[in-house]
Amino acid sequence: MKRHLISAADLTRDDAVLILDTAEEMARVADRPIKKLPTLRGRTVVNLFFEDSTRTRISFEAAAKRLSADVINFSAKGSSVSKGESLKDTALTLEAMGADAVVIRHHDSGAPHRLATSGWIGGSVVNAGDGTHEHPTQALLDAFTMRRRLVGVDAGLGHDLAGRRITIVGDILHSRVARSNVHLLHTLGAEVTLVAPPTLVPIGVERWPCEVSYDLDAVLAKSDAVMMLRVQRERMNAAFFPTEREYARRYGLNGDRMARMPEHAIVMHPGPMNRGMEITAEVADSPRCTAVEQVANGVSIRMAVLYLLLGGNEPAVTAGNGTSTRTEESK
Ligand code: NCD
Repeated sequence: MKRHLISAADLTRDDAVLILDTAEEMARVADRPIKKLPTLRGRTVVNLFFEDSTRTRISFEAAAKRLSADVINFSAKGSSVSKGESLKDTALTLEAMGADAVVIRHHDSGAPHRLATSGWIGGSVVNAGDGTHEHPTQALLDAFTMRRRLVGVDAGLGHDLAGRRITIVGDILHSRVARSNVHLLHTLGAEVTLVAPPTLVPIGVERWPCEVSYDLDAVLAKSDAVMMLRVQRERMNAAFFPTEREYARRYGLNGDRMARMPEHAIVMHPGPMNRGMEITAEVADSPRCTAVEQVANGVSIRMAVLYLLLGGNEPAVTAGNGTSTRTEESK
């Protein structure tokens, strides 16, 4: 693996499967009475959040703490960033604090890349969502959730999503989750179809490794997972669809549509959800919807990512008898 995690496209199949398998071991730690590992004791992880976040920020914080790292949470609001301090000066401050990893969420696409390539900091950079560009750990936790639900944990480690059909629906244009998922799912061998109104499909999508459809009803019956995306009103500076009602009617997932999905198929949502818009409450609260499971899985994935970027060569998890549970092929 590279030193930083900026884009899901940077991950090879082996990298991705190693992260998923390591996360599987981390998930077992979450089932123990004491959920903590000593792996990153003495290391410092900084959460640098320039944009609002609930799930991602607390997930990275929980992940770093479960690995015994020291965690510094930095949010732009209430810091000197609101006085106009630049990314560079903020980075130099973090470097002075001895950050081993910087987890960054930023409203500008490319900010994590800038941080990783600038030479301002010596540690690893993890992209926790940049503008409309990428959100690689979200794609990893989504793949982890799909693998558990569709392939099954019992299938053993090392399995990927080859041949599974994943449909991603909604505001693709503004979605870093969609872009990261398309890259990662393609790497893992899945077949991805994007469904959106033409106004919410990004320019250049024909170069992405996926299909595009404007008709949700046409693809539901052949989907193993349907991932609903939030309509990101805060990034919209124009009218992309006539009314919310019209959007929900054509692109929202309701009980009727869910009933047309194959029995084994799951509904996913990265959160936060606009209930009544892209997803009805009936679907959001149904056992087929994995939204809450995705959040829980996010902690295991972020533990795996931090461990693999910072942890060195020690086994991630040792079983009660002191032997490593890490398999040979996942090394
Ligand atoms: C997503 C994000 O911030 O990109 N949410 C998340 O990380 N859980 C999607 C969104 O905001 O709609």
